[in-house]
Amino acid sequence: MTGFVREMHRSANPLLVRVAAIAAIGGLLFGYDTGVISGALLFIKKDLHAGTFEQQSIVAVLLLGAMVGALCAGYLADRISRKWTKVMSGTIYFVAALGCALSVNAEMLIGFRFLLGLSVGTASFVGPLYISEVSPPRVRGGLVSFNQMAIVIGILLAYIVNFLFKGFTDEWRWMLGVAALPGAALAVGMLTVPHTPRWLMLAGREDKARKVLERLRSGDEDADVDQEMQDIEEANERERGTRLRELWRQPLRAVVLIGVVLAVAQQFVGVNTVIYYAPTILSDTGEKNAAALAGTLIVGVTNVVFTIVAVLLLDRVGRRPLLLTGTVGLLAALVVLGVYFSSSTLQQDYGWIALAGLILFIAAFAIGLGPVFWLMISEIFPVGVRGAAMATCTIFNWGANFVVAQTFLTLSGAMGRNGVFFLYAGLAVLSIVFFVLRVPETKGRSLEEIQDDLGSAEALTDR
Ligand code: BGC
Repeated sequence: MTGFVREMHRSANPLLVRVAAIAAIGGLLFGYDTGVISGALLFIKKDLHAGTFEQQSIVAVLLLGAMVGALCAGYLADRISRKWTKVMSGTIYFVAALGCALSVNAEMLIGFRFLLGLSVGTASFVGPLYISEVSPPRVRGGLVSFNQMAIVIGILLAYIVNFLFKGFTDEWRWMLGVAALPGAALAVGMLTVPHTPRWLMLAGREDKARKVLERLRSGDEDADVDQEMQDIEEANERERGTRLRELWRQPLRAVVLIGVVLAVAQQFVGVNTVIYYAPTILSDTGEKNAAALAGTLIVGVTNVVFTIVAVLLLDRVGRRPLLLTGTVGLLAALVVLGVYFSSSTLQQDYGWIALAGLILFIAAFAIGLGPVFWLMISEIFPVGVRGAAMATCTIFNWGANFVVAQTFLTLSGAMGRNGVFFLYAGLAVLSIVFFVLRVPETKGRSLEEIQDDLGSAEALTDR
């Protein structure tokens, strides 16, 4: 039995698993939107007579909405709580998904996709934030990564839904509309979970915080609720009255830099070109369309399988080894893809190399940068600025996602597909150097200990 499963048995608390799973539904919405749009767009463009500009806007506006959503949610998560921010996010998503399905023209669809973005951007980091604040250190890596697991399941579900609804009347409306269901599940589900103890303490509700913590730790032989309460209280005491501008002062600035570099690196290695354009990449290799679609499904399944591997290993081998191994693996995959697209002989006779390269790429991403980015940004910041700091990293992540999505096809035209893969490989090398030098190990330590070690907590006391 792996460490994570064994530790989950030891902490033996169904409430903890339930609240983590509900909070992770936000990831499902995020993944579903990422995966669904390329398939749906084929039908939308005919039905709504959308030109190139409208089509690009339908895709990109969600990413812009997500940036705005993350911006507002950082404030909301600290102000009205992590829990209520997620209830709002699910409600907005429900309305927006139905709005998309019922849109009568491209403008209306663009408007509702922006609204979806607001919700997805919010959910994308309030999920990991919520889960990290309710989890005991021993299983935090695996539990927070439920969120990444939900993202990749969402992507796979979208591929399957696209496949199933093809041939239906109003197929794209169904493809976009079914997402209302998990949106409603998130909103209603979040009504049934408690606030995080750390947020309750921040809001001065100590009695309630203790009650919640006792419920979350009941049955856990190693839990020491008094100690945990004391650690949270001390951290809160130190950080009371923290101002946002301190994010940009040393040594907190160095911690923010780690989060931002992880955010940008996660996108600049080109993961979403694989997610958005896998069929295009594969059909350009001479594979027939059906084979390209099957290849896409294989990529989706690989993503899920290796994310499960990550969930099982993160608390055992640690974040750093997985991050580094994963990023080196995806560097190798990018070089393979670069070489493949540089040689016409390879492209003619060895079409399988492209699929193998994509599979290696996504497997390596799934054990490293995929889960580790979201996990780390939920661990390294002091609670007083955690919402705002995570929001900042999330905005960079969605912004970088937008830049890559907007430039992939243009760059492929300008420097060839091989050139683009080599460019991403170069960025992967820079990322690896930064990770080796700067990214800390956070396995098995309480959030308060991690912040002490990073010096971020002192930054707030020394003011
Ligand atoms: C990234 C997404 C990406 C997904 C793929 C997530 O961690 O933030 O941009 O689409 O992983 O698995």
